Amino acid sequence: MLTRRDFLRSSTVLTAAAFAGPYIVPNSVFGQNAPSNRITLGVIGCGNQSTVDIPEWLKNDDCQIVAVCDVNKASFGYKTAKQFLGREPQRDFINQFYAKKAASGQFKGCDIHSDFRELLARKDVDAVAIIAPDHWHAVMTILAAKAGKDIYCQKPLTLTIHDGQEMIKAVRQHKRILQTGSQYRSNATIRQACELVRNGRIGKLKRVETYVAENNFTGPGPGWKEMPVPEGFDYDFWLGPAPKVPYHSDRCLYRFRFILDYSGGQTTNFGCHSNDVAQWGMSADDTGPVEIEDAGAEFPPKGDLFTTPTKVAFRARYANGVVLDCKTDPISFGAKFEGTDGWLLVNGKSITCEPAVIKDSKIADNEPRLPVSQNHYRNFLDCVKSRQEPIEPVEIGHRTASLCHLGNLAMLLKRKIKWDPKKEEIIGDNEAAKMIARPLRAPWSYGMPLKA
Ligand SMILES: NC(=O)c1ccc[n+]([C@@H]2O[C@H](COP(=O)([O-])OP(=O)(O)OC[C@H]3O[C@@H](n4cnc5c(N)ncnc54)[C@H](O)[C@@H]3O)[C@@H](O)[C@H]2O)c1
Repeated sequence: MLTRRDFLRSSTVLTAAAFAGPYIVPNSVFGQNAPSNRITLGVIGCGNQSTVDIPEWLKNDDCQIVAVCDVNKASFGYKTAKQFLGREPQRDFINQFYAKKAASGQFKGCDIHSDFRELLARKDVDAVAIIAPDHWHAVMTILAAKAGKDIYCQKPLTLTIHDGQEMIKAVRQHKRILQTGSQYRSNATIRQACELVRNGRIGKLKRVETYVAENNFTGPGPGWKEMPVPEGFDYDFWLGPAPKVPYHSDRCLYRFRFILDYSGGQTTNFGCHSNDVAQWGMSADDTGPVEIEDAGAEFPPKGDLFTTPTKVAFRARYANGVVLDCKTDPISFGAKFEGTDGWLLVNGKSITCEPAVIKDSKIADNEPRLPVSQNHYRNFLDCVKSRQEPIEPVEIGHRTASLCHLGNLAMLLKRKIKWDPKKEEIIGDNEAAKMIARPLRAPWSYGMPLKA
């Protein structure tokens, strides 16, 4: 059977009209981009980060958002008090965007869903953008791959190391394109810094320091009380594969990132940016550390709703002797590479280094270069069409997240963990070994069928 995806690659096979269903926005909106050349996208998760990602998708004339999905109909209570988000506000935002571009000034073609499996079952959806909390990334990605969709999944790619292993299997088995939403891989300054480090401009690499932001919320503290679930919010569906527990508003929208059942705190939130840059510069995308230890991390008091570190501090040692120190720091995001001949700090906007001339050093034609992506979203769309690997495929997103998860494990257990990066196994510590996977609450499982 010829899918829409096959058709995008071989548009000479059939006429465009054969695929132009009622969901397709008229050409007047998209200029040169005929329906047959457009990637139809479904967005899963209409919260804080969707306010960044949706406008980015809308900048691309060969991409049309045909549906959005969220378990929240519409509410305040996201990162800022003024954000009013959920499936209806984001549907309206998208419809208004297309209406402004349409000759008629009207458009109502973006659908809403409350169950992402309905969105995945649609034949008119080529790809999905997963912007739900981390505890959903694995199940959503695996089901999307089974449904034949290409996937842009936000970072951190995973909640556990085992999640990543299962996601890789599904993406490869179903031959899908997956881009991890670690957008700094598409940042020219970051790429330049990593090329300078890889090409020896600071000498032999010895140590890397990576930075994560301080927590921007504090929990309700020990003794917090259950609250009524707001109308229009499907709390049980929000929890999904995570344990069933009483509702509190600080548990869900945006603040989920400070609770270990759903995320890894700033270790994975900012860590999946800074440590991603570090592993790129270190040429460590296909491996990981061999030893990880706590370096003075702090956690909320027992009984608090929030469970992730209030202060991140862990040390990871790689087989080649390079040491990576990840810590909470006012820099918030970035990596400092230290070598035998100098150091280089990059934060996404600029490079600071010693000696200062390193920054202006040109990479010669015969020196190794890194793949170039100018824009993370564009890179995904191009790869959906070409079937080439995007700048941060599932394996790399998994490796970066694994480093962060190992850091959290060492900080929680307050002892040194030994890791075999080839076998992806913890060595000689049964308690820690069990913690790289978590049970999923029924009916959710990695192997579940697509139909509810
Ligand atoms: N790349 C970046 O720089 C960046 C920045 C911020 C957030 N993120 C990532 O984006 C993801 C979302 O974070 P956020 O800050 O937008 O959180 P958020 O809580 O503001 O938004 C998440 C949305 O997903 C919805 N959701 C939860 N379960 C769902 C389900 N089963 N089906 C459909 N929708 C569901 C929630 O109701 C909510 O509206 C996280 O993984 C986060 O790490 C990435």
